[in-house]
Amino acid sequence: MRTMRAAFASSFDADNPLSALTVGERPEPTHPEDDWVTVRVRASSLNHHDLWSLRGVGLGADRLPMILGCDAVGIDPDGNDVVVYPLVADPGDPRGMSILSENFQGTLAERVAVPRMNLLPLPGGVSATDAACLPTAWLTAWRMLTTKGRVEDAESVLVQGAGGGVATAAVALAVAFGKRVYATSRDPGKRERITELGATALEPGARLPERVDVVVETVGAATFDHSLKSAAPMARIVVCGATAGHEPKVNLRRVFAMQLEILGTSMGTPGELTELLAFCAEHDVRPVVDSVVPFSRVEDAFARLHSGDVFGKIVIDHTA
Ligand SMILES: NC(=O)c1ccc[n+]([C@@H]2O[C@H](COP(=O)([O-])OP(=O)(O)OC[C@H]3O[C@@H](n4cnc5c(N)ncnc54)[C@H](OP(=O)(O)O)[C@@H]3O)[C@@H](O)[C@H]2O)c1
Repeated sequence: MRTMRAAFASSFDADNPLSALTVGERPEPTHPEDDWVTVRVRASSLNHHDLWSLRGVGLGADRLPMILGCDAVGIDPDGNDVVVYPLVADPGDPRGMSILSENFQGTLAERVAVPRMNLLPLPGGVSATDAACLPTAWLTAWRMLTTKGRVEDAESVLVQGAGGGVATAAVALAVAFGKRVYATSRDPGKRERITELGATALEPGARLPERVDVVVETVGAATFDHSLKSAAPMARIVVCGATAGHEPKVNLRRVFAMQLEILGTSMGTPGELTELLAFCAEHDVRPVVDSVVPFSRVEDAFARLHSGDVFGKIVIDHTA
């Protein structure tokens, strides 16, 4: 059997997800349907999703071993540079689809199989390492701000926990949209870097100079009360994750009195990813990259993500 190098979940560990990670050989991709193709991966990026998978959240034991990774930029069988859209139709999943690495093998490998319709052209002028940040974290932030948050009707935006991949994307995009942007981070160094992106940086829980129209929530329990208190009448609080706990106390009196919308969201559509790629290329907006790590050091990259000492995306260079 032909094999390739890959980073995969070989078990689960809720407390120490890094111990469930294995880097080694896995079988070459197989195609469940005729319209699937194999992409040679040039670059991928890590997401908190990969750590959840290693903890056993969202990934069943019957799926192990599972190659991790949702994002990929690579070369298709015809030699085209492509960006991989990471959601695949999956009738067995209650959502009707799943993200690469949940049911179908992920992108942290030499090659990945995906439906041909999931391939989008890599825009000219956008590097493979930059584009590898876009399909999950940046797409999620794009949908949070645009489709869900209706940011075109907003003057100001609050982003919680601004060091993360989704959060730095939301800050950079909201600034590019010309909004007044506030962002919280626990870390003084990250607050300084948020300021460099064009946002006003605040300590978690700090009073804002104004109430905002859109809140980008990825943190959850630790920040949700502050999100409610910071929201202007009719504001949209858009939630895509809950890194610090998914059961916050919610003051419903504030929700109805201020007529707030609390909106859940996941990822985005292929059309939204196409819009995002075009926006980045056209407006010269580029992802905030924490570090580019060669595949040979992918375990170090996971350790860095797990430490939380990250500002922006960790990109994996599969050519190194
Ligand atoms: N639904 C979807 O489609 C989707 C897509 C992408 C991500 N997500 C979810 O969104 C979340 C963020 O993802 P990511 O990849 O951007 O993660 P990440 O890069 O690991 O970001 C985590 C950020 O959360 C903040 N944080 C963590 N614990 C905190 C605490 N106790 N108090 C305050 N802030 C805390 C930190 O901000 P500071 O250090 O700056 O304070 C950190 O930078 C994850 O839960 C992920 O699963 C969901």
